Parts: sequence; structure tokens; C-alpha cells
Amino acid sequence: MSLSIIILAAGEGSRMRSGLPKVLHRLAGRPLLAHVVETALGLTPRQILIVHGHGGEAVQASLAEAQTAPGIVWVAQDRRLGTGHAVQQCLPHLRDGETVLVLYGDVPLIGAETLRRLLAGVNAHTLMLLTTTLDEPAGYGRIVRDAGGEVRRIVEDKDATAEERAIREINTGILAVTGARLRPWLAQLDNANAQGEYYLTDIIAMAVAEGVKVRTVSPDAAWEVQGVNDRTQLAALERIWQRRQAEALMKAGITLMDPARFDVRGELRAGRDCLLDINVVCEGRVELGEQVTIGPNVYLRDVRIGDGASILAHSVVEEAEIGAGCQIGPFARIRPGTVCEAGARIGNFVEVKKSRIGSGSKVNHLSYIGDTLMGKSVNIGAGTITCNYDGANKHRTVIGDGAFIGSDTQLVAPVTVGEGATIGAGSTITRDAPAGELTLSRAPQKTRPGWQRPVKKGDV
Ligand code: UD1
Ligand code: CA
Repeated sequence: MSLSIIILAAGEGSRMRSGLPKVLHRLAGRPLLAHVVETALGLTPRQILIVHGHGGEAVQASLAEAQTAPGIVWVAQDRRLGTGHAVQQCLPHLRDGETVLVLYGDVPLIGAETLRRLLAGVNAHTLMLLTTTLDEPAGYGRIVRDAGGEVRRIVEDKDATAEERAIREINTGILAVTGARLRPWLAQLDNANAQGEYYLTDIIAMAVAEGVKVRTVSPDAAWEVQGVNDRTQLAALERIWQRRQAEALMKAGITLMDPARFDVRGELRAGRDCLLDINVVCEGRVELGEQVTIGPNVYLRDVRIGDGASILAHSVVEEAEIGAGCQIGPFARIRPGTVCEAGARIGNFVEVKKSRIGSGSKVNHLSYIGDTLMGKSVNIGAGTITCNYDGANKHRTVIGDGAFIGSDTQLVAPVTVGEGATIGAGSTITRDAPAGELTLSRAPQKTRPGWQRPVKKGDV
């Protein structure tokens, strides 16, 4: 049976107190809705219908990837008249001979395995409902069962009697049923209830009345069905997600000095025996070889780091490639487009942008290297600046293998320093420096014998 998945995402999320639609708030660096779409895609549905309302354009725009994925259909719900009304908007897209699965855009961590178990139970005579039991069920729809334990209906919290409110089994909102069954039930919904809404949950009693069996399954883990209604719940789910990432990494042979102080917002791949100290934040795609050490308070985004390299404390590395055995930091900033070849060293208070640092080269202290092609075994003295910007254009600096740049040098690009060249400290280099020679530009040092310091006069 083919599968259509409906993701309800038209909520305003007023409790987020935000200008951003709720489903665009981020969990692990990605919109809530993106998590649900990814899980849905894993079930290989025929189509995913995303019901949007409030901020619909923003929702579509921010899910650019999903939007272009085949089978994603955006369905507008202009007025938010309830979950049943939201699903009604999808009717023109649904086929009778398929399974329809309803998910929520604000329940981001629903698991594929749980959904597979739910879907496995669906047939022409069975509706599958995902329920769970909570100690504090207030606010949720309650599952009303008969004496034989069969599900009879769902009653919403606001419509429930005191006795029904005592029921602890709740509706997660996630259900699956055939299109053929769903269609006529949706047509029968009304809004004669406490909230004046068209409740999707009313189809349960209709199913029972028609002799359709209602079976329930529970999620593998309680957090799978936790929704996000406010920022406290969002933060709680973020911690759950991060804890799971941390555990998977530790299982794969990575040492985390503290799994509670570690965040991956994207994808982290790491070889064996890597060690991550506290407060490491990884965004985008981060790949570590084996035996890589990341010091405390390091931010990594879209980087590849080779075997045995270390990134020392308080460093920021973005869109860069760090070769095997490199040592970066502490307090280094590696900006996009940088490649450090094997064994290079970038020290404290050094910024490198869009440059290639050849193997074994050292930029150890207080320097700016931008738009530079640097050969092997180069030594850059403290305080060296590549002056790559003339106020309008960026220019390149080329430094040959084995060059030695004295401290406090400005290399005014475009400029080339030849192989094995030496630049005297304190130089401003505006023309190419030949290979193998000493080049310096420095005002001659003078001493004025007998010179006296000024003496402080009386007040004027
Ligand atoms: C719903 C269920 C309740 C269940 C609870 C689980 C109904 C009537 N009630 O209640 O049984 O325990 O979820 O969290 O279904 N939405 C739309 N369009 C609408 C209304 C809602 O897209 O017109 C979306 C919301 O964005 C949200 C989801 O549907 O993702 C649930 O809506 P919400 O208003 O939170 O439903 P609850 O009252 O919590
Ligand atoms: Ca809700």
C-alpha cells in the first residue's frame, strides 16, 4: 500500500512568543519541521503534505531542500479551525487505496521505528493510534476505553468530565488509517465542542461505530512524542537530542570529557580515540580523523580535521581543512577557505582567511594571514600582517617554501616572497622579495648622544 504523510504545521505557536513560526524554531541547528520531514522521507512515502498557515512563505523558504524534494506538497490552511479541518485540506491529494499517516510539525523527535510499527498495523479494517501514558496528562486528549479494554473514543481535555480527566493514557496526535476510511469521516466532522474546532480525534468514535478496529501502539521512548509549545520544552528536547548524539559518539570510541557539555548541530563524524574537551560546539558537517584532540570551548563549523591534529582551547574553525598532525590555537581563528597542510601550526591570536598554509609551516603568534598561498616549512614571525585589501579589492600574497618572515612585517599584496627568502623584522614589503636573499625595509637606527628628556614646566 502506498503511503501519504500529512504533517500538521499550521500552528501559530503563541506560547513561543516569537516572530518566527513555531516549526521554524531550531533543534540541533535545524528547524523542527525539518526533523519531521527527514523522518517522514525515511518512510519512503508517495508524498508528504505539509499543512501550513501562519508564516507559510517563511516556512517554505526555510525548508528549501525539502521544498524541492520530490513529493513534498505544501497545503495552505487559511483559517486555523482545528486538526480535523487541517487534515480536510489534504483530501484532494489523498488516494483511497493508500495509508495516510498524520504527524505533527512540532513533535520533532518522533522515531522511524515507532512509526514503522504503527504503519504495520494499518489495514482496511484497522486504524492505528499512537498513545502513551503520562503521570500528568492535563491538556492532552484522553483515550477512553471500554470495560474490555477496547478504544471507544478520544475526549479532549477541555471537553472531558472529571472522571475522564483522570485517564492517564493520552493521544499523541499521531495516527494512521487508509484514505478510503478517512475521507467520509472527515466529511462528517463538526465543531460542536468546547473549543469550537473541528477535531481530528472525533474520527475515533466514528471508526468504532463502523466496526473499524482501533489499535494502539506506544512510542519506543517517551521523548519521541514530546511536543514543543514553549521555549522550555524546546530546550528540554535539545538536551535529549544532544545526549543521544553524545552517547552514540562515545559508543563509537570518542572520549567526551563531559557529554552534558557538548553540542552537535549538524553531523559529526569522528574516527577512533578522538578526545573532545568540554563546551565543544560542532555545526554543519564536521569530520575528524583518528586521535584528534579538541580543546575546551572550541567552535567548529563545516571542517575536516586530519589524524592526530589538535585544536587547542578557545579556537574557532569554519569551512576549513586541517591536515594531519596540525596544531591550531589556543585562541586561533581559522576562517572559510583555509587549508592547513600536514603538521602546520597556527598559534594564539592568529587569524587565517582563505589561505593555504604549507606543511610544517608555522604562524605562531598574533598574525593575520589572508588570501595567501604559503609553501612548506615557512616561519612567520609574531605580528606579521598580510595587507590583502586596498579598500576596494583583495590581493594575493605568495610565500615560497622555507621563507622566514621577521616579526612585525607587513606584506602589502599583491606580493611574492621567494623560496628561502628572509624578511627582516619590522619591514613593510611592497615589492617582490627575491628567493634566498635577505630583504628588509627599515629606517636606519639612530642614537643622539647626550639627548635630554623634556623637563616638566610649571602650570600655564
Ligand atoms: C491535539 C489533539 C489531542 C492530543 C494533542 C497532542 C485534537 C483535537 N487534539 O491537541 O488529542 O492529545 O494534540 O499534542 O487533535 N494544527 C494545524 N491546524 C489547526 C490546528 C492544529 O495545523 O487548525 C496543528 C498544530 O500546529 C499542531 C497540531 O496540529 O502541530 C496539534 O494542534 P494543537 O492545537 O497543539 O492541538 P492540541 O489542542 O494540543
Ligand atoms: Ca499541542
